[in-house]
Amino acid sequence: MQRLDHKIALITGAGNGIGRGIALRFAQEGAVVGVLDVMPDGVNETVRQIRGADGKAHALICDLRDAEQVETTLAAFAKEAGTINVVVNNAAVMPTGRMHETSLENWDAVFDVNVRGAYLVNCAVIPGMLAIGQGSIIHMASVTGIRGLPGIAAYSATKGALIALTRAMSTDYARLGIRVNAVSPGTIDSPMLHNFLAAQQRPEVLRGMFDDMHPIGRVGTIEEVASVCVFLASDEASFVTGSNYEVDGGLSSKGEQPQD
Ligand SMILES: NC(=O)c1ccc[n+]([C@@H]2O[C@H](COP(=O)([O-])OP(=O)(O)OC[C@H]3O[C@@H](n4cnc5c(N)ncnc54)[C@H](O)[C@@H]3O)[C@@H](O)[C@H]2O)c1
Repeated sequence: MQRLDHKIALITGAGNGIGRGIALRFAQEGAVVGVLDVMPDGVNETVRQIRGADGKAHALICDLRDAEQVETTLAAFAKEAGTINVVVNNAAVMPTGRMHETSLENWDAVFDVNVRGAYLVNCAVIPGMLAIGQGSIIHMASVTGIRGLPGIAAYSATKGALIALTRAMSTDYARLGIRVNAVSPGTIDSPMLHNFLAAQQRPEVLRGMFDDMHPIGRVGTIEEVASVCVFLASDEASFVTGSNYEVDGGLSSKGEQPQD
């Protein structure tokens, strides 16, 4: 018996980074995994890795900004695999900039994927979860939804929105068998971090600063985020709903350092 046997799990943004790590781990734990991403190459690579390890994966190439695509893609996945009973709303984009430097186009773009995308997915899967009386929805938020960090105002607003949505939805569905939780990673050693660092002037210095920023003394790993998602998706978390799991090496709990 594995921890995610009988789970039909949809992971968005599973063509790269943390989403791919969650998809691989869920498949190892016995779930049938819907690998959803807008990047076909990323989807195919994740599916290839899962099948290579004898896991069960479905390739779902879909743009979360397109309501019709989301509905038809998820309906087709449920028809093939069975009622979706686990969702990880993980896909995101991260434009940078302070508030007055964020164009309306970027503001709309980040909300379209990070919040409206989760809305579309949730609306597509909840009727099926209600019909079977069980489900686990996980929103991938961020420490930036809890604490202020410079230069990513719009992205941070979407992550705060997902944490609020988690709490609101958990109260709506708690008695109907659907649990809703959030996961808020600190900085994670991932392609997103590598791309960000590569665009900076002194990446190795900045990387050291990221490590030091976390009380635990290092950034996190994709596997450490995936482990918490496995728990929340599994029946081991049957009394856990409306929570926000900070997978951040203590970052969101950190107070100001005393000045010399
Ligand atoms: N990497 C970190 O340090 C970190 C820290 C905190 C939170 N997070 C969160 O974790 C999640 C995953 O981050 P990551 O580092 O793996 O990012 P990533 O950019 O590597 O992966 C995000 C995925 O989402 C997909 N995506 C983007 N727009 C889409 C759309 N319209 N439709 C479908 N798919 C779309 C991308 O193609 C990509 O594969 C995000 O929600 C991110 O905000 C990451």
